[in-house]
Parts: sequence; structure tokens; C-alpha cells
Amino acid sequence: MPSSAAIRVAILGFGTVGEGAYRMLEDNREAITRKVGRPVEVVGIGVRDLTRSRTAPRSLFTNDLPKLVRREDVDVVLELIGGLDPAASLVEQALERGVPVVTANKELIAKQGRELLSLAGRHHVDLHFEAAVGGGIPLVQPLKHQLAGNDVLKLIGILNGTTNTILTRMAVDGAGFDEALREAQELGYAEADPTNDVDGYDAAYKLAILGSIAFGRQVPVDQVYREGIRRVSQVDMHFADVLGYAIKLLAIIEPAHETLFARVHPTLIPRTHPLAGVDGVYNAVWLHGDFVGDLMFSGRGAGSDPTASAVIGDLIGVARDVVAGQSGQPILWGEPIDLLPIADLETSYYVRLNVQDRPKVLGQIALEFGHHDVGLSAMEMRVIDRKRELGEIVFLTHRCRESDFRAGLASVAALDAIVEVCSDFRVEA
Ligand SMILES: NC(=O)c1ccc[n+]([C@@H]2O[C@H](COP(=O)([O-])OP(=O)(O)OC[C@H]3O[C@@H](n4cnc5c(N)ncnc54)[C@H](OP(=O)(O)O)[C@@H]3O)[C@@H](O)[C@H]2O)c1
Repeated sequence: MPSSAAIRVAILGFGTVGEGAYRMLEDNREAITRKVGRPVEVVGIGVRDLTRSRTAPRSLFTNDLPKLVRREDVDVVLELIGGLDPAASLVEQALERGVPVVTANKELIAKQGRELLSLAGRHHVDLHFEAAVGGGIPLVQPLKHQLAGNDVLKLIGILNGTTNTILTRMAVDGAGFDEALREAQELGYAEADPTNDVDGYDAAYKLAILGSIAFGRQVPVDQVYREGIRRVSQVDMHFADVLGYAIKLLAIIEPAHETLFARVHPTLIPRTHPLAGVDGVYNAVWLHGDFVGDLMFSGRGAGSDPTASAVIGDLIGVARDVVAGQSGQPILWGEPIDLLPIADLETSYYVRLNVQDRPKVLGQIALEFGHHDVGLSAMEMRVIDRKRELGEIVFLTHRCRESDFRAGLASVAALDAIVEVCSDFRVEA
């Protein structure tokens, strides 16, 4: 390739992220050329529907994506389609041809990252995926490089902007879950089918990716414990606040007993923790490394511009390698690791019960939990219905084993005085 020749890019997918990546290459053309040492030029764009109007020249578009990937004049492929089919086979084809790939596809990397990285390694090409986790926040590269010498002792993320927007709306404005979800859908933050976000799948993909990099072993996404936010109510938001906590959908990974706990669930986090103030569409990752200590990254976790920022950052890295005539070093993930079951977790819990408002009920609850080695700490009570003698009790437990907590809660639920176990959530100290 002559020293002035452009680095030629094929973009697969021209939706929110693909269009943003194209626009950034156009808008920041001069700066990018300076940083790469050569121009970076888009030579083809693959989409499904050729009839839609687009913000790039029509001549660039094709719906024959395999043919675009096979073109001899493509130096780098950006995979910005999403999902597994056809993204996985297109990425494989590019890597097998020795063409480096940049992708934003969390599902693809979480489920097939290990195989794809190994394929990239065998063909001596780059495979980068900074945009797959945390949108515009640099997380993958710092974990791969600057932080790689640390033993990560805990990593906690707010990794899904949709659920964080819904929870923030509930906390700040007193909206119920259904109302907050409907609003997020109207504003375009949540999809018509919100399952992927609301039930924690998206956060689990991202946690599996971050964990695989941080711990050097593949974290199997199907073993990540996962609970969504549908059970979080306005009443829980209120009590959490009274007790000094925020409720967030946290993705947590930490080493224990020679392996790892990896879990995504709604969690009470003290208002004093830096993650508690991460609101709305913002994402954040807090981690503790043995040498670096506490560290937090935060920023916009999704959207066209922030995600394009991460994609183009990766592209510039790859383009520099192409200019230098070298390939980067794909970081290989080790063998898959068997994660610990949630029953073995040790943490504390928040519980809300509706009870018959009678003397001794508190003592009975404490006694049942005590039989299972679960001690109670902070507590709040209020009368719901004085005539029917109905009350609501909220308490936190001391740290205990999840299996003991579940057994204790089942015994409490069986007491005559308990009308309903309304909710229970894990608490992060
Ligand atoms: N949106 C975000 O904020 C965000 C943030 C971080 C990461 N990501 C990831 O980025 C990727 C892209 O997301 P997006 O939000 O940009 O998606 P999107 O808006 O739905 O765009 C998808 C694009 O892929 C094309 N496409 C889909 N299926 C295709 C097929 N079978 N053959 C050819 N083209 C196909 C679509 O073509 P048509 O235009 O013809 O329909 C469209 O241009 C996903 O992996 C997503 O997880 C997104």
C-alpha cells in the first residue's frame, strides 16, 4: 500500500451506531487523518433495506454484506449490526481473510468472544469491542492494558442506561415502574420489547465481557445470576431512601473460593457510594484493584455519538496498526470458569413485609431469622390500615449466607402474623 493511500473501511449496519460512526469520520476527518497518518475512507456500507433514505451517498450502500466483506479493497470492517445472525458469520469471514474487525456487539462478544479472539489470534488480526460495554466510556482498553497488573478484588457496574433512567425517574419523581417504563419507551430510551434491558440480559452480557477481561478467564454469560427491575416498587424506593440507600441495577463480579461470583440484580447501595449518584442514561463502573485501589469510570453508556466515539477510537488504533504494517495483539480469554451459585453468596438483605400489627410480631420475625443465623439490623415500621390492624415492616439484615437468608425468609413467611412478603433485595455495603 502506498504511504499516502487511505485506510479503507466497510461499515456493516447503518442504524444508531453505524450512522454515528460514519458522521464522526466525516466531521472529524482532518483530526483523524492527522492521528492515523493517512486518511480513513468508508468504501462500502451494508444494510438490510436499500430503499430507506440515508445520510451517506447512495453509491456506498449494498445489501450483499458477505460480498462487501470479501472485497479486496477493504482494510477494516466495522460490525454495527447487532445480534448473532448474520453478525457472527460476517465477523468470522473478515477475520479468516486477515481483515481486522471493530464491533459494538455485546451479545456476540459475550457469547462467542473467546472463539472469535482465538480466530483473530490465529490470523494475526485485531478484534476490538470497546463500544460493546459502557458506550463512550473507555473500559475495555483500561482493563486490558493499564489495569492488567492488578488483582481485581471487586468490580461493580451500572451498565444499562434504560434501567438506570427508569430507576432514576422512580426515585426522583415518585413514578411507578410501569409509568417510568412507558415514558422511557416514548422518549426512545427503551425498546417496545424492553426484556433485554429490564430483565438484566444486556447488563449480564456486559458484565461477562468485563469479567472475562478483568479475570483472564471466560465468564460464561449463561451462568451469570440475573434478576431484572420489574419487582422494584415506589414503596421500596421510599424506604431505601429513608434508610440512606439508592436502588440501582448493579452488575457485580468478585473473586471468591478460587472462582467468581457474577450477578446482576436490583441492589440497595449506600448514598455515600459514588455509584449511588450515577443517574439517568449515565453508566459507570467502580472497581477495586489490589494496587490501584478504588477507581471509577462514568459517562454516557449508549446513544449514537458516545458509542461512535468508542467505535472510532478502536478504528483509529487498528488503522495505526495497518499503517505500521503490524497487527495488534488480541487478548486471549482463558478457559471458561465455573461461577459460584448465588446460594453461596454472603451479603446483607433488605426485606419489606406486610404484617398483622400485633404485639410480639417483631420478636417472632427476629427469632425465625435467628434460627437460620440471620441477624436483623436497621428497621422501619408504619401502619397501613389502623382499622384492619395492618402494618408494614422494613428491615435490613446483617451479612449472612444467601441460602440461610432464603430459609429464614421462608420460615418468616409461614408465620400467622405475616400477610405478605412484599419484596427483598440484596444490599451492597
Ligand atoms: N444503540 C446504542 O446506543 C448502542 C450502544 C452500544 C452498543 N450498541 C450495539 O451496536 C450494535 C448496533 O446497534 P444499533 O442501535 O445501531 O442498531 P440499529 O439502529 O437497529 O441498526 C442496525 C443496522 O444493522 C442493519 N441490519 C440489521 N440486520 C441486518 C441484516 N440481517 N442484514 C443486513 N443489515 C442488517 C440495519 O439495516 P437497516 O438500516 O436496513 O434496517 C441497520 O442499519 C448492536 O450490537 C448494539 O448492541 C448500540
